[in-house]
Amino acid sequence: MPSFKSGMQAQGWPQDVGIIALEIYFPSQYVEQHELEEFDAVSQGKYTIGLGQTRMGFCSDREDINSLCLTVLSRLMERTGIGYENIGRLEVGTETIIDKSKSVKTVLMQLFEDSGNTDVEGIDTTNACYGGTAALINAVNWVESSSWDGRYAVVVAGDIAVYAKGAARPTGGAGAVALLIGPHAPLVLERGLRSSHMCHAYDFYKPDLSSEYPTVDGKLSIQCYLSALDSCYATYCRKSDVTKSASASSMSLEVLDAMLFHSPYCKLVQKSLARLALNDFLRASPDSVSTKYPGLEAFREKRLEDTYFDRDVEKAFMANSMPTFEAKTKPSLLVATQVGNMYTPSLYGSLAGLISSHTVSSLAGKKIGLFSYGSGLAATMFSIKVSTDTSPGMPLAKLVTSMANLRDRLESRVKVNPQAFAQIMQLREDTHHKAPYVPVGDVSILFPGTWYLTGVDDKHRRQYERLPLLPSSNAHPGTSQILNKEAPVPSLAIGAATI
Ligand code: CAA
Repeated sequence: MPSFKSGMQAQGWPQDVGIIALEIYFPSQYVEQHELEEFDAVSQGKYTIGLGQTRMGFCSDREDINSLCLTVLSRLMERTGIGYENIGRLEVGTETIIDKSKSVKTVLMQLFEDSGNTDVEGIDTTNACYGGTAALINAVNWVESSSWDGRYAVVVAGDIAVYAKGAARPTGGAGAVALLIGPHAPLVLERGLRSSHMCHAYDFYKPDLSSEYPTVDGKLSIQCYLSALDSCYATYCRKSDVTKSASASSMSLEVLDAMLFHSPYCKLVQKSLARLALNDFLRASPDSVSTKYPGLEAFREKRLEDTYFDRDVEKAFMANSMPTFEAKTKPSLLVATQVGNMYTPSLYGSLAGLISSHTVSSLAGKKIGLFSYGSGLAATMFSIKVSTDTSPGMPLAKLVTSMANLRDRLESRVKVNPQAFAQIMQLREDTHHKAPYVPVGDVSILFPGTWYLTGVDDKHRRQYERLPLLPSSNAHPGTSQILNKEAPVPSLAIGAATI
């Protein structure tokens, strides 16, 4: 881990600011999407082929947004060995609201108590699935600003994505990520290459504050997502072409080694990659069309805004971009297809999936495009340049090692049948915001090191405990382990109630 001194000693413009370390947490239980198809009495293949989803992670009443974020932040700090006193900014991105005033960030500050560090900027940021990206931009901007005091920033993004019974329910999920931000990072956010598209839309929103469920206009949400993608890509391409060197190629998918997307469901991601191919096609010079896009010349007169649901265009460009999808996007969909939509962490779950599919040397030097979308709507496209320093013990090697067991962690989860899943969803629905409340979910199935809710008192104050870690403090929760229930359990005091 690079060490940099306090702000007074930090000199010059910080270089290579970006993601130094990444931690991901997802629930220890899941439901199979093909079993859910049968249970919901929809046609076989609708969720698995039509939406591209394999499994869906979900939480019992033992987990809420605070516990997810406590778990992922604790793990990041333990894995990196960075003391809490070395964090100068903590940003949380979430749309899972359990308190309209008190931020999740302030709950996380309990983890800082032993260090004595209360000098930590940042609070929560909310706009549907975009909050994590807003938090990342805030953190990177802080490190690059005159306010930076030389310490690290941390971004935590977490959500519980649950929908009412019906068409949207199979596009749920849950999880959290934590990102350590600073200079000399192995994943550098490219400067001057960020494009956003923000406007007003009622595609997905949560006006009923007594419910966890959103109000969704499914078709509009897809159109909003795709139009934001077009707009961000056009601006990204323009900025890229203005800043590129004379010998570099003009911006297109060919310039990127990987392209990652916010993933509400994997089929939309595949369609989005095809959409970028369509954008490239419409921007391409006339003489390159017949060689690069054989058989597609007839689509040359199409206007992007007329094609969101144009089946012929979609089919043609899905086929044309299939090899690019397989090479540049599919490896990133491991978490998205296995856990589902995690909302704010979704894009960074894709980053975790991409890293887990690489070795240090195969990831080094790569250029990764990322598209973040949050309904309502806010969207940004940006890019990451991966460090070329492949030395053992350096941040890139540590990052790749930290994600190496991601597939094993996903496989070590507990499968729950759709009936039990539906009951748990009903319990969450019935007890959401209930106070006082004592959760009933089985704690023994949670991964080691997981924070969980033990109770909500009559003033809505929440108490948490943590399951013991594995004996090796750097071992990762998730590989099948026996919980040592006799080990000391750290506890948090929330409000006046102490566990
Ligand atoms: N075998 C194979 N495919 C099948 C099938 C079968 N038996 N049955 C249906 N399909 C296909 C359909 O043809 C369809 O494919 P296309 O998308 O290519 O048309 C696909 O499966 C889905 O079927 P429907 O369109 O009939 O599905 P639906 O209308 O019932 O619901 C949905 C789909 C609108 C996405 C719904 O799940 C939903 O509202 N989800 C939540 C909103 C969402 O995720 N929006 C995405 C963009 S917004 C965003 O990104 C923010 C966010 O995170 C929420």
